[in-house]
Amino acid sequence: MLLPPPTAAAISCSSALCRRLAAEIGAAGGWVGFDHFMELALYTPGLGYYAGGSHKFGAAGDFVTAPEIGPAFAQTLAAQAAQLLALSAPRIVEVGAGSGQLAADLLRELELRGLLPESYGILELSGELQERQRQTIAASVPHLLRRVHWLERLPEYFDGLVLANEVLDAMPVHLVVWTTTGAAERGVSTVDGQFVWVDRPASGRLLERAQALAAECALPPGYLSEISLTVDAWVAEWAAILGRGALLLIDYGFPRREYYHWQRATGTLMCHYRHQAHAEPFYLPGLQDITAHVDFTAVVEAGCAAGLELLGYSTQSNFLFNCGLSDVLARTPATDASHYLPLASSVNKLVSPAEMGELFKVIALGKGITEPLLGFVRGDRSATL
Ligand SMILES: C[S@@+](CC[C@H](N)C(=O)[O-])C[C@H]1O[C@@H](n2cnc3c(N)ncnc32)[C@H](O)[C@@H]1O
Repeated sequence: MLLPPPTAAAISCSSALCRRLAAEIGAAGGWVGFDHFMELALYTPGLGYYAGGSHKFGAAGDFVTAPEIGPAFAQTLAAQAAQLLALSAPRIVEVGAGSGQLAADLLRELELRGLLPESYGILELSGELQERQRQTIAASVPHLLRRVHWLERLPEYFDGLVLANEVLDAMPVHLVVWTTTGAAERGVSTVDGQFVWVDRPASGRLLERAQALAAECALPPGYLSEISLTVDAWVAEWAAILGRGALLLIDYGFPRREYYHWQRATGTLMCHYRHQAHAEPFYLPGLQDITAHVDFTAVVEAGCAAGLELLGYSTQSNFLFNCGLSDVLARTPATDASHYLPLASSVNKLVSPAEMGELFKVIALGKGITEPLLGFVRGDRSATL
C-alpha cells in the first residue's frame, strides 16, 4: 500500500492516539471490540480523526461528500426539506454537519424560496468541526448565522426535519466472523506495541443479530462483515424524540440481502486517507477516516420497532431528480460555459451510477407525515428493504 506520507506533527498526534488506544485495550483486560477501537480512533477529543485538526473534507482532505462537490446537492435537497417543514414544523436539526457546507447552502436556498426554517440546530460530536461549521456559515450566509445553534446533546422532543448526510457510515461497527462453530466477534489486542486482530465468541445482542443474519442470509463459514448496533440505537433514540416530522438519512449502503451477499465475504469496512481507499484500520489511527456501508434494512427495522414509519427509500439519483435537480441545472444557461461546465460535472458526480448515484441511498422515516414525499414519487425502492 503506497500512501502519501504524513507530516511529523501528524505522526506525533497519531502516536499519541495509539498510546491512548493501547492503554484502553490494557485497561479492558487486553481486548476491545472493534466498535470501541473505531469510536476512539474517530472521536477521541483532540486526537480522533473527526475530533482532531486534520482537514478531512474536500479536495485538500481525504474524501469528498455530496455537499462538498458543489451547491446543487443542497439546492435540490431544499425542495424535500421545504415539503417536510411544511408538513411538520419549521425547524431543522442537522446531525454531523462536517464542514458546515450543507447547512450554509441549504439555508441560502430555503431563503431564496422564501421558506427559511425558524431554527437550524447542528448536533456535532467534534468541537473542531463545530468551529469550522460556524466559520463556513459566517462566511457564506452571515445574516443567517443567528438562526443556527449548536446542540450539546440530543433534544428531549423535536418536531421538524432531522437531516444526516454520511453520518451513519461514520458510526462504530462491530466486526463479526461467522464460523462453523458459531459467530465470533473480531476485536483488537496488542502484541509488542502493535495492534492485532483477535476473535472471541460473540455474545448478547450482537450474537442475536449475528445468528439472525446467518439464518436469513445463509452466510458461509469464514464470512466476515459488520453489524452496527450504534446505528440501531441512534435511530431508536430519534424515534423517541420525534413528535411530528422525519429523519432524512443519506448514505452509501444496501438493503440487507445485498449487504450480506455471500460474494461480499470480507464486509464493507473502508478507510480513507488523502483520496485513497484501503482496508487497513490500524494504519495511522487518527489520520484516516474509517467507515462501513449502511444496512438500510436494519435502519428500517430499528425505526419501525421504535414507532417510526418508512416514508421512502430510493437511490440518490432518483431522489435528486424527483426533487428537481434538472430545474436546478437549468438555472444556469449552457452558454455560460464557465459556470455551466463545473455545475454539470458536479451533477454528474451526484447522479452517475458509476459515482454516487446508485451506491448512495436516501431513506425517510417519520411520524405524523401522511402525504407522499416529493423525493420518492418515482423509483421508490422501499419494497427491496
Ligand atoms: C463523513 S462526515 C460527513 C459530514 C457532512 N455531513 C458531509 O456530508 O460533508 C461524518 C460526520 O458525522 C459526525 N458524527 C458521527 N457520529 C455522530 C453522532 N452520533 N452525532 C453527531 N455527529 C456525528 C462526524 O463528527 C462528522 O462530522
